[in-house]
Amino acid sequence: MTRVAASAALPRIAPEIDASRLLRRLDEIAEIGRDANGGITRPGFSVADIAARAYLLEEARTAHVSSRVDAAGNILIQSARESAEPSSDRTLIIGSHLDTVVNAGRLDGTYGVLAALEVIQTLAEADLETELAVVAAAFANEEGALFPQPFWGSKALAGCLPELPADPRDHDGAALRDALALAGGDLAALPSAVWPAGSVAAYLELHVEQGPVLERGGKQIGIVDGITGRTVLTFQVTGASGHAGTTPMAGRRDALAAAARVILAVEGIASEQQLCRTSTVGWAAAQPNSPNTIAGTVRLIADLRDTAPERLAAAEAQLHRQLGEVARATGVEIRVVAESRSAPADTDLALRAAIADSTRQLGLACQLMPSGAGHDAQILATIAPVGMIFVPSIGGVSHVPEEDTAPGDLISGAQVLLRTAVRVARAVERETAPASTARPVKGGSTWKS
Ligand code: GLV
Ligand code: MN
Ligand code: MN
Repeated sequence: MTRVAASAALPRIAPEIDASRLLRRLDEIAEIGRDANGGITRPGFSVADIAARAYLLEEARTAHVSSRVDAAGNILIQSARESAEPSSDRTLIIGSHLDTVVNAGRLDGTYGVLAALEVIQTLAEADLETELAVVAAAFANEEGALFPQPFWGSKALAGCLPELPADPRDHDGAALRDALALAGGDLAALPSAVWPAGSVAAYLELHVEQGPVLERGGKQIGIVDGITGRTVLTFQVTGASGHAGTTPMAGRRDALAAAARVILAVEGIASEQQLCRTSTVGWAAAQPNSPNTIAGTVRLIADLRDTAPERLAAAEAQLHRQLGEVARATGVEIRVVAESRSAPADTDLALRAAIADSTRQLGLACQLMPSGAGHDAQILATIAPVGMIFVPSIGGVSHVPEEDTAPGDLISGAQVLLRTAVRVARAVERETAPASTARPVKGGSTWKS
């Protein structure tokens, strides 16, 4: 992998983000996908997600920057005024995701995308030329809340999507092909979303911490050193449905009772056996889900996390053994599908230093820290050096409607992102205005401005 050569110096007049524009956009997009429980529900490729994507594209249009949607549904935004010289076609990507979990907060992912748009717009307005092209990305379906492939868009761009079923479906049975087409993607053209080897010079992601460390430590900025690995497994527990009152207890094959044992087995993998850092079943669906009928089938989704890949593999293997025991003891069948295995990733030393320099120049307090949440950055780390910037989460909570960050911290994080992007993309000092030539298109679709 190539090394990052970040410039220590900023241009003579360092650009500043437009704080009120960023906060306005965060407020506006938070109204898209509002649910009845006071949160935001915008699973990837849902109607709400498509509305949020349309919002971003419209903001890019009114900002007079170029945008396109690739075959995987990633939205890519770039200044239309960047000079084609003197850079090669190597690119700094900055971004995150717009999709959410069910009943989410307003910042997870969305903050990083809107801050990335703000950086692109600020660079364009300042007419600031950089040696590297700078592209803002809204990666599609990072959470995998509906379509069971987390990091969908970043994996597509990095060329590491696993082989897909012929007709991939979401948890509700809807076809990915149709949902992706509505988002402007094209399942049949997925290979065109892969960026050529070496074309991504670096990736930077700004994100809310989603935990309590920065708040407790009184720091405004976290510099991520490593990102957790994550394995997502789907279990299909199949028993026999029947009447709750007339079917004798002896000989039942109750899928929901067996699923309860599976859930406890998953929990115990981390909490008792400590084979990985966390293990969670956060999603369950019983059939027919009727109070006076024995459940015939139950589907569960488990999420295992650790920063060591060998520990994740050991945890998965142990879980398989325990599920075999549950199946034997209860008479049900348990089918396991590994939906996604995402490796842990370290961030790049030079990018950490560039973030630290920006933080220091802005007079902000920072600390080095790991990320217990997964991020598109860990996927980009398979093809390029990556850096991640965290801002504090109030009360340390995330994936809940209460998720929030103080406006001042949101603004500081975006300033750090801008300065770091300028360092990494290497601002070019010049006397005259650049030619307004758009850079060549990557990945096979057309930039619109
Ligand atoms: C991504 O949001 C995760 O679950 O870590
Ligand atoms: Mn999340
Ligand atoms: Mn996120």
